[in-house]
Amino acid sequence: MTLVAESKKTNLQYLFMLTLLCLPALLFAENDVPTEYMKLKNPLVLSESRTKYFAKQFLTKCARCHGELGNGGTEEDLEVRPADLTDTNFMKSRTDGELFYQIEKGGEERSAMPAFGEDSDHGWSDQKIWGMVAYLRQLALSKSN
Ligand code: HEC
Repeated sequence: MTLVAESKKTNLQYLFMLTLLCLPALLFAENDVPTEYMKLKNPLVLSESRTKYFAKQFLTKCARCHGELGNGGTEEDLEVRPADLTDTNFMKSRTDGELFYQIEKGGEERSAMPAFGEDSDHGWSDQKIWGMVAYLRQLALSKSN
């Protein structure tokens, strides 16, 4: 009887340790872009006039932190520096869904990256965020040419 009880306890201890081991992974995952977003593909292709519209949006809403060219050159004193959005390799490392998520929900806690999604003050529709993602792709491409 004692033996059984003891082995049960050991199992519980293992379970407890396993939970502790997984905890950092779980906490870390919360800051990460959820898998369902990672896989999203941009459904939009921008016409020339829409490209102009988003270029203007970028200048008025994003450039003060990301730089007029989007390369991260900025006068703002930011704790977390924005990445160079015109760096082709950097942009290739990001899926459409990842870019969408960052614009919709904003950046990590310490960063100044605001949320633009429907629930935010900016109230951008999904359509508008996808438009901006498409614009950022063009920005990265135009620099590599
Ligand atoms: C107040 C400053 C600020 C403004 C305004 C701002 N951003 Fe950011 N943004 C940041 C910072 C800082 C980061 C990097 C930190 C992070 O990823 O959390 C960032 C990160 C990003 C990223 C993620 C890049 C990556 O690491 O994957 C994207 C995409 C982005 N911004 C797009 C935009 C767009 C589009 C706009 C305008 C609609 C905008 N940002 C407006 C500060 C800003």
